[in-house]
Amino acid sequence: MARGMGLCCCFIVVVMALLKGATAAQTYEVGDSLGWEVPPNSSYYSEWASNKTFYDGDKLSFNWTGSHTVRISNTAAEYDNCSKTPVADIGSPFVLTLNASEPVYFLYCTVNDHCKRGQKFSINVLRLNSTVAAPPSPSSALSLTIDAFVAVLSTLVTLVLIYI
Ligand code: CU
Repeated sequence: MARGMGLCCCFIVVVMALLKGATAAQTYEVGDSLGWEVPPNSSYYSEWASNKTFYDGDKLSFNWTGSHTVRISNTAAEYDNCSKTPVADIGSPFVLTLNASEPVYFLYCTVNDHCKRGQKFSINVLRLNSTVAAPPSPSSALSLTIDAFVAVLSTLVTLVLIYI
């Protein structure tokens, strides 16, 4: 009986660890292997961002060599015009934690003509458990499935413990 309970406890710990990993905030490497550089084409970073869903608490990690900055703007006009608004001196890597109270981020480099050459992208940031009338994203559907799974699992473990 003690052995059975020990196995059950191990199983629960492993499942809870896996579930925590599935719902934790993500850290994204901006530009993947390219990093934060003048891209090979002007849509590179937009394409990089387009297949991702960003949530409150996720992090963007900007890594570069040479001279670059990260301008975090909240106006489309600045972004469209690659405005040369001064940016505090920051070093690489620069990690930005996304906050859903700022639903749109416009990000670009202010060095020389880098922004005009495509070192820029904008993203939307969603709240966790957002009830916005948008189609559910794959990850929110996943967390619903996980919630259901945990409920079933808890019931099964309780039954097993009662009958051991
Ligand atoms: Cu740059």
